[in-house]
Amino acid sequence: MSTSVPEAEIVVLGNKSLGTIEGSLFGQFLELAGRCINGGAYDPESPMSRPDGVRTDVLEALRELRPTHLRYPGGCAVSYFDWQELVGPKESRPRAKLHRTLRGAQSTAFGIAEAWAYAEELGTELYLCVNAHTQSPEDAANLVEYLNGAGPTKWVDLRRSHGREEPYGVRLFGLGNEIYGDWQAGQKTAEQYAAWCREAIRQMKRADPSIRVVVCGCGRPNPEWDRTVLFATIGLADMISIHNYFGRPVFRDSMGASRVCREMLNALNVAIDEAMDTTLGVHPRAHREFGMLPEVQERPGIAFDEWGVWYHGDRDPVHCLEEVFNYGDALTVATLLHEILRNTRTVKLANVSLAVNMLGTVVTDRDRCVRQTTWYAQKLLRDGHSGRVVETVADGPVFSAKHERFFCGVVDPEKARDETLPTLRHYDDIAALDVLVSVDEAGRKATMSVVQKLEDRPLKTRLSFRGIEPRGGRVKVSRLTGGSLSASNTLDSPHNVGIETETAPLSEVFTFPAASLTVLEFEL
Ligand code: AHR
Repeated sequence: MSTSVPEAEIVVLGNKSLGTIEGSLFGQFLELAGRCINGGAYDPESPMSRPDGVRTDVLEALRELRPTHLRYPGGCAVSYFDWQELVGPKESRPRAKLHRTLRGAQSTAFGIAEAWAYAEELGTELYLCVNAHTQSPEDAANLVEYLNGAGPTKWVDLRRSHGREEPYGVRLFGLGNEIYGDWQAGQKTAEQYAAWCREAIRQMKRADPSIRVVVCGCGRPNPEWDRTVLFATIGLADMISIHNYFGRPVFRDSMGASRVCREMLNALNVAIDEAMDTTLGVHPRAHREFGMLPEVQERPGIAFDEWGVWYHGDRDPVHCLEEVFNYGDALTVATLLHEILRNTRTVKLANVSLAVNMLGTVVTDRDRCVRQTTWYAQKLLRDGHSGRVVETVADGPVFSAKHERFFCGVVDPEKARDETLPTLRHYDDIAALDVLVSVDEAGRKATMSVVQKLEDRPLKTRLSFRGIEPRGGRVKVSRLTGGSLSASNTLDSPHNVGIETETAPLSEVFTFPAASLTVLEFEL
């Protein structure tokens, strides 16, 4: 080890909590699109599948990430399905529907009951997106009644006739997907959508008052959308969603992604606060637009409904949006998860997008399944962190990066390479160390995950702790392995990037390798 003076310092403020890691922060997303479900998680043709068509190797890879919930069936796909086409005997469902946004026919065989059972097998809950695009609020409420009602009513009887006596008890519902955009069916203006949601949420919650409902936000490209939707649904909606995809071909630029993410969350929080102000009657729009001030039990949370890395992309209708993620992309995923976990006071739900093949954490062919680099970043942080997130100060070198500020899912690889776009955000102060520290519920373990963003040199770092004290003389060190920024895991070469773990003597100084993800676990 070098004897030089540390160039950086991490100070952990163990008594300063930023929030608690709880609820729905580690969601996975299965969409009826590309080869995500059909030909991915569900593939009756594969020798790796059970008789019911579920790929056991994919199920196992997702189970190991311990998802907090499973989002289904879209994404854009939701606008092409009537929920009644996704329930009941498979033989009476339409054989397939066309996903017109991403193109390609999608079988209906993996329907709502199948998604619910899949979530059960993952040990998690189903988060169902309803079709706010081409179906009515009444349809959405009928679906809630079908799933959760005890009856005897028309919709509960329908469920019973499908062989399901007990209510499913689905608690999480999203109302449409990116409905502000013209890339899917049933685009709505904010006013139209807000009116749809007010009616739908009232009816859905009358069918089952225990459900939690997420409305579509748009984020920074159109804060007016968010205001309109929030002002109209405050007191009714539990969360407002935001989508963004990150990453750029130059690694140092990708390392600016989490800053963009932070700015997005901050901006959406301002809109939520404004909506809360309307309930006090002090916001100018409140008097104009509401006859009666809404009552709010709880400030709406943010649902980071789709987040992930997406910039390599293509639009092959069969291998649709199948990105080969590299080691650098895994570090981007880690920085984004850091940002989500730092914001648990306001971010109440998050889904990495997506789980299988299409932008997938896991990739398959007929008989093989590979965990992409991004799977390992998720695994390290999912297993490492729990309990309270505490404040840290990371002092050290900084560097410049630029990153697109919003990218709502329509990938243009040329655009991703364009360094001169006026919409790029330029940062001159990206900290070399991106650090997240959590202290488990029992107060026995502190976990520190560190993305070292400098690609040209290791960073010798002093570690200081206030309010908590590492003991036991040793520290568990887990690392993302890989060798180079461009290393990836492919079906033919599945183990280039992985995780290695060892224990090391506890020391005040730790050297983080160039471009690395390290998780240190300290006994307290
Ligand atoms: O993740 C793929 C697509 O990207 C989803 O269907 C959509 O919501 C987003 O635009």
